[in-house]
Amino acid sequence: MYLYQNEFVSKEQVRISPDDRGYYFGDGVYEVFRVYNGILFEAEGHYERLEKSARDVRIPLPYSTRHLDKLLNQLIRLNELAEGTVYMQITRGAAPRSHPFPAQAEPVLMAYTTEMARPFETMEKGITAVTMEDIRWLRCDLKTLNLLPNVMAKQHALDQGAHEVILHRSGTVTECSASNMMIVKNGELRTHPANHLILHGITRAFVLQLARQLNLPVREEAFTLDDLRTADEAFITGTTTEITPIIRIDKQTVGQGVPGPVTVKLQRAFEERLPKAAIKS
Ligand code: PDD
Repeated sequence: MYLYQNEFVSKEQVRISPDDRGYYFGDGVYEVFRVYNGILFEAEGHYERLEKSARDVRIPLPYSTRHLDKLLNQLIRLNELAEGTVYMQITRGAAPRSHPFPAQAEPVLMAYTTEMARPFETMEKGITAVTMEDIRWLRCDLKTLNLLPNVMAKQHALDQGAHEVILHRSGTVTECSASNMMIVKNGELRTHPANHLILHGITRAFVLQLARQLNLPVREEAFTLDDLRTADEAFITGTTTEITPIIRIDKQTVGQGVPGPVTVKLQRAFEERLPKAAIKS
């Protein structure tokens, strides 16, 4: 079942207009939630980010986040989802194509669930990455539907035989196509500060909290491609990727070429805090 506005319908019953501004302009916002054991993970953070994205692009949310939470939980129950994700998007609505905000349009909400196993293999073995100039706009903190630069960057990585792309602005590392970037260097965990140049990842915040609980020194300060290339460990964080080690960057080995000890420690701490029955037995 899909959630379409305030109703649960089949996919075929979702009627999105060709005039929907999401389609013409990418004029909408979205969230991807992780579901562990039928439970929305860090839901509050996702709702707060959704409210911020919607407010800053001036799309009125059709319902309170409290009501949205009720709807998403109903959707999870209806679809009997245990392990997977919930995708939800809200566009400015349908109106004949014209740049100004339409006077009459009503926001269009659509959400669905996807069953998805946890990425155990890549979390254990690590992935490879390539670097690329970050050509996105200057409000990367907003989770909008305008993802063409992210799509192009991800495809660039795949075309090079790598899994992910690490973006940088003139040598300053920002984040990845759909995840945040962290390195460990001289015992310190380093990641780009949560400003307008990166998405304020829910997993990023969760991992930083874990690191502080583990008494790991944390530095939320921009680092360079040079720092990245000489890092002892590197990993990405994200709703679908959790904590995934990066073992090679631009064909050069990171550290020992295997997931590092700090990364593994954080993965373990992450695992311990998941809704119980979701833990791998
Ligand atoms: N992407 N950076 C970007 C550009 C992202 O698109 C995402 C998430 C993240 C990680 O944020 P979080 O920990 O809140 O998932 C960082 C989602 C999963 C997506 O677009 O599919």
